[in-house]
Amino acid sequence: MPKVEFDLSQELVVLTGAAGILGSQFARALVRYGARVALVDCDGLKLEALARMITEELSGEVRFYIANVASAEQMVALGQQVESELGQVTVLVNNAAAKSPNFFAPFEDFPLEDWDQVMDVNVTGVMLGCQVFGPTMAQRGYGSIINILSIYGVVAPDQRIYEGSWYEGRAINTPAVYSTSKAAVWGLTRYLATYWGNHGVRVNAISPGGVFSGQNDMFVRRYSARVPMGRMAEPDEMSGALIYLASRASSYVTGQNIIVDGGLTVW
Ligand SMILES: NC(=O)c1ccc[n+]([C@@H]2O[C@H](COP(=O)([O-])OP(=O)(O)OC[C@H]3O[C@@H](n4cnc5c(N)ncnc54)[C@H](O)[C@@H]3O)[C@@H](O)[C@H]2O)c1
Repeated sequence: MPKVEFDLSQELVVLTGAAGILGSQFARALVRYGARVALVDCDGLKLEALARMITEELSGEVRFYIANVASAEQMVALGQQVESELGQVTVLVNNAAAKSPNFFAPFEDFPLEDWDQVMDVNVTGVMLGCQVFGPTMAQRGYGSIINILSIYGVVAPDQRIYEGSWYEGRAINTPAVYSTSKAAVWGLTRYLATYWGNHGVRVNAISPGGVFSGQNDMFVRRYSARVPMGRMAEPDEMSGALIYLASRASSYVTGQNIIVDGGLTVW
């Protein structure tokens, strides 16, 4: 059994982007620590498969909800549905992020539609999650909101590592819209930490470094050479920070950004 301060058995968690690489690990970790979890994603097939797997593997109490976090209408409906089916949400994890069709286009030619699409999900989607679930947490005087950012909201990417780097059959980089969106949500995180600070709602962030998920050898080598620990992260290495911020172990922590990057941002 987890130590009592990390125990999540009293928590009802809404986790967005649950069907993704980190989301599916976050879901498992939250369930292992006893939380009930509302899994939210726009990819219904992956989401349903994940919910089934977690129910079978971990006998966890999860439900899944298909929703677009960038839609105010869908988020309001989600809030009502989760509350009526599962009860009062105590933890919100804003983890969803979008890759638009021309996500890796160079800055000079980056289409405005792609910019808007990514900002809608990565920034407006987080704001909507906070707007829907935060006020009831504040009214009850208890809650934790965790925004998943990136080291590239904190430092700029080293552009040299992308030469010859491939992922899922195409050349990759970190576009400006990604860094911009993550830096914006760091601002929102700090704003809401003070806004709800004396209402018992803590608002924090986690900034993951690069997670290995099948990038080519060139990328892995070049990226890893920038990391003091000499390697990329495994997908489950972000979960410790999440459990800490979701639980009473971090009861006096708000407005913080836990950077989980093997030391990349240190030098
Ligand atoms: N993987 C990494 O190396 C890495 C590094 C730093 C930060 N991050 C951050 O961690 C979070 C998770 O990343 P990931 O690697 O698991 O990404 P992922 O692409 O595997 O998962 C993102 C999930 O969000 C969902 N999603 C996208 N748009 C949505 C929308 N409009 N509404 C609802 N759901 C939507 C997708 O369907 C997907 O399941 C993101 O915020 C990402 O920016 C990831």
